[in-house]
Amino acid sequence: MTFDPAPIAGSFAVVEPHGTKITHYFYEHLFANNPDVRGLFARHMEEQEDRLWNALGVLVANLQDTEMVIRMLRSLGARHVGYGALPEHFPAVGASLLATLKHFAGEAWTPEAEQSWTALYEVITSTMGEAMAAAAADRTEPTPGG
Ligand code: HEM
Repeated sequence: MTFDPAPIAGSFAVVEPHGTKITHYFYEHLFANNPDVRGLFARHMEEQEDRLWNALGVLVANLQDTEMVIRMLRSLGARHVGYGALPEHFPAVGASLLATLKHFAGEAWTPEAEQSWTALYEVITSTMGEAMAAAAADRTEPTPGG
């Protein structure tokens, strides 16, 4: 993995205390720019804790443990097939994620932070995307003999 964990963890630590304001900003940004994905998140909006942001927190806390990060992203990717998420949704989610981090990070949003988050999101996209493709292929494979 080619990102630098330090500016990622540093900016995330500044953003995190903003609590639910972060997720409101993120979903408003995502749905305003991509109304087509709104329907996929119907149940999600009723959750008190935002699971996407919790998952990001777990990833950020474990960036030194490459194997754990990859394992978690593969498992997330496989589950996302069931949510109707598609590979082409990833740039939209990534753009809203970075816009949200930038909004709340203030001065902690340095060029290094932006570069490292961009590189991390590329790893997220490719690793989740590969697992999604594999899980989708498993689903559509005809069962032997039937
Ligand atoms: C940064 C990348 C992402 C992370 C870390 C992430 C994380 C999560 C997590 C933790 C959940 C809760 C369920 C579970 O653990 O399986 C979830 C649900 C979901 N995610 Fe993601 N996700 C990401 C990207 C995306 C993308 C690109 C889409 C596409 C639109 C998407 C759509 C959904 C949907 C529709 C659900 C189910 C919502 C519901 O419960 O109604 N996610 N995501």
